[in-house]
Amino acid sequence: MVALNVNGRTYQADVDARTPLLWVLRDTLGLTGTKYGCGIAQCGACTVHIGGVATRSCQVPISQVGSKQITTIEGLAQSSGAGNGILGKVQQAWLDNEVPQCGYCQSGMIMAAAALLKDKPNPTDADIDDAITNICRCGTYQQVRAAIHAAAKA
Ligand code: FES
Ligand code: FES
Repeated sequence: MVALNVNGRTYQADVDARTPLLWVLRDTLGLTGTKYGCGIAQCGACTVHIGGVATRSCQVPISQVGSKQITTIEGLAQSSGAGNGILGKVQQAWLDNEVPQCGYCQSGMIMAAAALLKDKPNPTDADIDDAITNICRCGTYQQVRAAIHAAAKA
């Protein structure tokens, strides 16, 4: 049994210590906003924040998480101080810039973008290219960049 702190709530999960965090979030806790793409830390679809750091959860055994605070896409508005169903500025910029196509990669993109903006409130294009290495099959990279700049100005 492991105790997890996810989006400000404490959960108990009866899982093997080697289970990747992604599968505990999705299968045990039912937080399916975090997506599975590759399973080998390449695509970024499974990105969540662990202790405030954008992390690919498919390669993090649950035993390594400990008491660190986990934020998923479901808790982002809350953790950005918006709460009450009000979107955080990154999510709003995503809507305003019509970023998603199929949407599959987008929760990971948004989590990576939120972490970047926390570290660098006004990132350059080069900062964005360095930090956002998530893969999008629909090719939304230009819209992602535009939305990050918009969120930085919000
Ligand atoms: S599913 Fe984790 S990086 Fe692709
Ligand atoms: S929006 Fe379709 S994979 Fe990115």
